[in-house]
Amino acid sequence: RQKIIIDTDPGQDDAVAILLALASPELEVLGITVVAGNVPLRWTEKNARKICELAGKPQTRVFAGASRPLVRNLVTAEHVHGRTGLDGPDLPEPTMALQEQHAVDFIVEEVRRQPAGVVTLCTLGPLTNIALALQRAPDIALRVQQIVMMGGGFSEGGNITPAAEFNIYVDPHAAHVVFESGIPLVVMPLDVTHQVLTTRKRIAAIGALGTPVAQATVELLEFFERYDELKYGSDGGPLHDPCVIAYLLKPELFQGRECNVTIECGSELTMGMTVVDWWGITHRPINATVMRVVDAQGFFKLLTRRLKTL
Ligand code: BDR
Ligand code: CA
Repeated sequence: RQKIIIDTDPGQDDAVAILLALASPELEVLGITVVAGNVPLRWTEKNARKICELAGKPQTRVFAGASRPLVRNLVTAEHVHGRTGLDGPDLPEPTMALQEQHAVDFIVEEVRRQPAGVVTLCTLGPLTNIALALQRAPDIALRVQQIVMMGGGFSEGGNITPAAEFNIYVDPHAAHVVFESGIPLVVMPLDVTHQVLTTRKRIAAIGALGTPVAQATVELLEFFERYDELKYGSDGGPLHDPCVIAYLLKPELFQGRECNVTIECGSELTMGMTVVDWWGITHRPINATVMRVVDAQGFFKLLTRRLKTL
């Protein structure tokens, strides 16, 4: 089984990503580390526990991490995710405990404890926890197999500023540390995630599963898509974060290119922009596989089938 740590700021789309991971026998979720992002940490850590319980996996370990970015003030996205970050379904208060260990300590300890080259970090939020772990324990860079992340955008533009995608914008300094770390990166930018839209038909197919998990997922997606439908006039909202997990399960759903990506940390206008050297113009070393195309039908088929098992 592929050993993963999920670093997340749930978030309805984070929630669906966590459900997909917990539903997949190929993946061993070593722990879920939580960061401030879509909403403050007190909400994101609670939301992560709610989702583990919804999935019927209360034994999953959830660790709280950074409550603010490395340098900048926290920017949140209640305008997309609602006040709690998980608006939509009425999920019960979680009863499973939060782990006492800090998320950053867990990441360092677990990556050192596991054999070198087996742990994949799946990042679904701002990269603060990962950057803190790399700064504290630079040796882990050589032990992490890869980071598969949702973040950035290039031809699609940004979603929190004209230039920047939310996860990178919230902590561009952390993103800079991660992109310079030498760890192989697989990047799911907005260019990909805007192709996986929660159309009515796709939500109905999930609803038709008829399980409590399916019903809650429908309510999450119906809340989440409101923002994008109004803003962009699309049929459905982009299911960003589950792309990360889908890639681990079925990499053939995605197509991209190996290239260099650098993070803008200096300009207020383009802060957090992922500067993707798609055409190899700079001759900077390759540090990422940036995805650009996804088989959206295949993605929803996979997601729906897996949700059925929870
Ligand atoms: C990313 O930002 C958050 O709002 C979503 O959860 C996703 O991780 C998309 O830009
Ligand atoms: Ca997220």
